[in-house]
Amino acid sequence: MTNSELIQAFTDLYGPGGEIRLFHSPGRVNLIGEHTDYNGGYVFPAALSMGTTIALRKRTDHVIRMKATDLPDVVTIDLDDLSGYKDLFWGNYQAGVLDELQQDGHTLVGCDMLYDDTLPHGGGLSSSAAIEVATALVFATLSNEAKGIKEPVNMIDMALIGQRAENNYIGVNCGIMDQFASAMGKENHAIFLRCSDLSYDLIPLQMEGYSLIIANTNKKRGLADSKYNERRAECEEAFKNLQTVLPTIENLTDVSISDFEAHQNVIKNETVRRRAKHVVTENARVLKSIEALKAGDMTSFGELMNASHDSLRDDYEVTGIELDTLVAETRKIPGVLGSRMTGAGFGGCTVTLAKTEVCEAVIKSVGKAYEEKIGYPASFYLSSIEDGGHEIR
Ligand code: GLA
Repeated sequence: MTNSELIQAFTDLYGPGGEIRLFHSPGRVNLIGEHTDYNGGYVFPAALSMGTTIALRKRTDHVIRMKATDLPDVVTIDLDDLSGYKDLFWGNYQAGVLDELQQDGHTLVGCDMLYDDTLPHGGGLSSSAAIEVATALVFATLSNEAKGIKEPVNMIDMALIGQRAENNYIGVNCGIMDQFASAMGKENHAIFLRCSDLSYDLIPLQMEGYSLIIANTNKKRGLADSKYNERRAECEEAFKNLQTVLPTIENLTDVSISDFEAHQNVIKNETVRRRAKHVVTENARVLKSIEALKAGDMTSFGELMNASHDSLRDDYEVTGIELDTLVAETRKIPGVLGSRMTGAGFGGCTVTLAKTEVCEAVIKSVGKAYEEKIGYPASFYLSSIEDGGHEIR
């Protein structure tokens, strides 16, 4: 929906008049550094053009009415009691954000809101982080205005509010990557984020002649959340084991590859050892990828993407037949430099680095092979890399 179509839809729903404002927050694609964020490691995501746009108008009471453009119902939220909205089919992420903002001392202002989401729901491109960050930005902005605070909203705080909403209200123990990318993205840049202290560098994506292709398995992500939490627990166990011989480490990603090789036998559980191997090697791959990108060495970058996927498939075991089929079929095509899953896994999307001239061929031939093998089609997106959360003026 264009911005003017969204405003029209808003007035059709809630009636005309007053000041209607628009806020936007994007989804993300992670280029490399998977399942490292909650281990205090490095990630390398970029914000997409797809995301959540909110049209809103202030109300004079303590009530929020909100609706999504693609869902039938208007959800009403009472700002004086935010506890009862955890089981909403849609609107629970927003309620979680409101709850965290309130605990953080923000003054919540009643609003009518219309959400337009262009990301595939649950597709691994951070559709929930986009909703969280956009919602946090709206209400932090209105709170600052109500209190006469002139400084712009701190976007890293918005990312942290979004993450806490997901951890505490929704019950998914996610790391900070998705919300950080949605809040802090920059046009044509990827974010090199150190998750241990949230320091970051914006790295230009010099991609002349190359493109990123995102492919969605369209697999329903059944047990994804419980499997995600299980991986976190396995990393915790590996960390505790390694700490007995490496007492100075504060995170699993503080372990170098050589220390891991020397001490991996203290991890008695073979599965847990492989989980740790993925995390330690993946963290090193992020640094190498950034060096490759800075040197304009796209071939090496692509090889590191491939190694990342193989490690997520064989050692971390979060891929599955759908993601592995997309990646295997994509890698067959000349002009493809690298292809890997992106995000949590268990379904969701892949990201591919390819010569721009072969993108159409990739989409056509991978689309055909995937549907033949899996039985339903994949979707493909060629997204530009855009800015993080902001008010549209
Ligand atoms: C999900 C989580 C992130 C991160 C990735 C895996 O997207 O929300 O915090 O852990 O999975 O890298």
